[in-house]
Amino acid sequence: TNEADTDFVLPQNRKWAEAIRDKWMNIGENGGIDAYPVISGEERKHQENKHDVYDKSQYHEKKKVGSFARATLEDMQLAVQTAKEDPDGWRELSQQQRQKVLMDVAEEFRKARGELIGIAAAEVGKVFSETDVEVSEAIDFLNFYPYSVEKLSSLEGISVTPKGVGVVISPWNFPIAIPVGGVAASLAAGNTVILKPAEDAMLCAYMLCQCFWRAGVSKNTLQYLPARGSEISKYVIPDENVDYVIFTGGEESAYKIIESRPDIALSAETGGKDATIVTAMADRDQALKNVVVSAFHNSGQKCSATSLLVLEKELYDDPTYKQAIKEAVESLETGSVWDFKNRIGALSNLPSGNLKKSLDYLDDTEEWLVQPKYADEQNPYMLKPAVRWGTKKGDFCHMHELFGPVLSVMCAENLKDAVNIVNSTGYGLTSGIETLDEREITYWKENIIAGNLYINRGTTGAIVLRQPFGGMRKSAIGSGKKAGGFNYVSQFMNIECNTRRS
Ligand code: NAD
Ligand code: ALA
Repeated sequence: TNEADTDFVLPQNRKWAEAIRDKWMNIGENGGIDAYPVISGEERKHQENKHDVYDKSQYHEKKKVGSFARATLEDMQLAVQTAKEDPDGWRELSQQQRQKVLMDVAEEFRKARGELIGIAAAEVGKVFSETDVEVSEAIDFLNFYPYSVEKLSSLEGISVTPKGVGVVISPWNFPIAIPVGGVAASLAAGNTVILKPAEDAMLCAYMLCQCFWRAGVSKNTLQYLPARGSEISKYVIPDENVDYVIFTGGEESAYKIIESRPDIALSAETGGKDATIVTAMADRDQALKNVVVSAFHNSGQKCSATSLLVLEKELYDDPTYKQAIKEAVESLETGSVWDFKNRIGALSNLPSGNLKKSLDYLDDTEEWLVQPKYADEQNPYMLKPAVRWGTKKGDFCHMHELFGPVLSVMCAENLKDAVNIVNSTGYGLTSGIETLDEREITYWKENIIAGNLYINRGTTGAIVLRQPFGGMRKSAIGSGKKAGGFNYVSQFMNIECNTRRS
């Protein structure tokens, strides 16, 4: 059974959310959270190399949320050594014992739901409902991975042992669910694990580690290593005591990991250039609703976000539909996460790279259907959703992941042309189609290249076990096993087949 999300419409839940808001929008007044590396069983309280974290929604006031201290070289070496030695004997526990502890961790996440929502709002700029679903997903991972280990180990003639030491490197855009997924899978399979979170989500990661520690996973078994990505590639991954890496982030970082240790067992979930095709046979209003949510919730900062809207010519040429898209996007309220009317919160970091380029420039045939604007001119994190119209094959925004609230609309002659447009990005993470015609669905399913296919629904929000999540081509480097699927844990175990043929 998947964990239920919070229904924020219910009055008691609304009150609960208001209490979280009142605490967290002023958290720094009482000092906030100070996160230190937690290595070899203890907090390493370095006073140098500390970094303050500020609330993205309250940019002018510079409201402090807390701070984190970066790990030293000695911390990094000690973390690997401790994980290798496994002083508390996690690897020696039975599968049932580990499962019991992870059930207790899940319970800690239920209790901490409000605190996790609060910290992610302040640190990462996520609106409450977006973190709420992450907490549910985290609980699902904690329930599901031990269960899948149990299923795998009970197969006749199979014996399984842990791989040993895992390093989980997580991104900032899903600051709860993604690190918890990697840690839960590692622990369920019997490994010790080091969590290296993203720079912009260090406090969220510290808080989620506390849920594990409170439930009885020791600080030797799960270590918290706040460090730069480049340092991990240089000082941690090359250590031969590291047995595998679970990475989620951009493909360039994934290739740097491979460069630093070409033989490492790597599960890498990378970027996407995800599209939704809307044909002339679609329920047009429903399609619009699905696209707007997929493109802009969490400010489009999802690997699964619809970044290309490919319209069949009949729809593309319909001025009423064009106007409907414009109005739907402009209706999305953007602003402080502490104001519950806002569906879109703050960006997690200031526009740079591909996102910045997409805001500053248009290709020859493109125009702005919805011009990029800031909800608050004084706050550069408050970028409103924007729509480019008339993107052509091969244009910058056709081919590049932007990772922000910018949707590019393209015209396709027919479904075959639309599928070619989507497949030519070189990515293959999520893909959507909106049509009521079964023949079109069949054609699309047979020809589209993507890990997760969605029909007449949004392209984001995969549910553990129901929609195992993972991509193809540039979107998955390494093993390619899907998160939340039955064989995911098999990457972190040595599996022996003992059956003899007579
Ligand atoms: P990123 O690659 O910059 O960082 C991700 C993590 O990798 C961070 O913890 C970072 O510190 C670390 N890192 C960076 N350089 C490294 C190096 N040389 N060696 C080791 N670790 C390194 O990505 P990001 O900006 O945090 O996240 C955005 C990217 O993540 C997008 O491309 C997005 O599509 C992708 N993403 C993919 C999925 C998925 O499931 N496929 C989910 C979320 C995000
Ligand atoms: N698992 C996340 C989603 O499906 C990335 O949106």
